[in-house]
Amino acid sequence: MRLDRFICKSTELSRAQAAVIIHAGRVAVNGEPLCDERAQVHESNRITLDDQVLQPRPFRYIMLHKPAGMICSNVDEYYASVFRLLSVEHPDELHIVGRLDVDTTGLVLLTDDGRWSFAITNPKSDCSKVYRVTLRDPISTASQTEVLQQRLIQGIKLQGEALPTRPALLTVLSEYQVLLTLSEGKFHQVKRMVAALGNRVRQLHRVQIGRLKLDIAEGEWRHLSEEEALRSADTNRIEAVRTL
Ligand code: URA
Repeated sequence: MRLDRFICKSTELSRAQAAVIIHAGRVAVNGEPLCDERAQVHESNRITLDDQVLQPRPFRYIMLHKPAGMICSNVDEYYASVFRLLSVEHPDELHIVGRLDVDTTGLVLLTDDGRWSFAITNPKSDCSKVYRVTLRDPISTASQTEVLQQRLIQGIKLQGEALPTRPALLTVLSEYQVLLTLSEGKFHQVKRMVAALGNRVRQLHRVQIGRLKLDIAEGEWRHLSEEEALRSADTNRIEAVRTL
């Protein structure tokens, strides 16, 4: 990460204050003063401020149950940001791992660990996201289910996208409600896929990411243990499920 970011993550200094002490030659990396705040440093480097070794704060992993009417953004826009629900120190260091639309509810993850969020959001990781979808039109027959499942497994060509969607799984809960399991997160993906299948989403709720299930009430949040954080980045491959 950048040197100034490392300083912010291991002290109470702001980015601007970090730049000032770096320019003043008070920061050394592996014993050598480093005066460029943009220089890249690694956690394994020995970084000192006035000869005191700096330790970055441990990474944070957070689960939040997003209500409808709030946005997945670090700042308020027309709607209030989900960050308003959080009471944590240094909220500016956190980012959202896979946003939900303003009208979508359910599981949102937040972190300051870029590698973890990449492992969850990169489609190549095959980390599954499970959505409970309430539909406008019912799925009434087994053959209708079979056709939809086949189309979801083959992939759906969405308007404006070069590639079809990756294989997705359908589980019918009732006539009007299904679980949809995806391993990618294109813009409005569930709504666009359902529309491409000739139906409409009435309500959308994310229940699970990887093997981590939402287990808190709407509007609440909690820290995840390291074991839970690993569970949420678990690949839980759709391909593997499909061939069972
Ligand atoms: N797909 C959507 O269409 N919306 C969301 O909020 C999440 C997935």
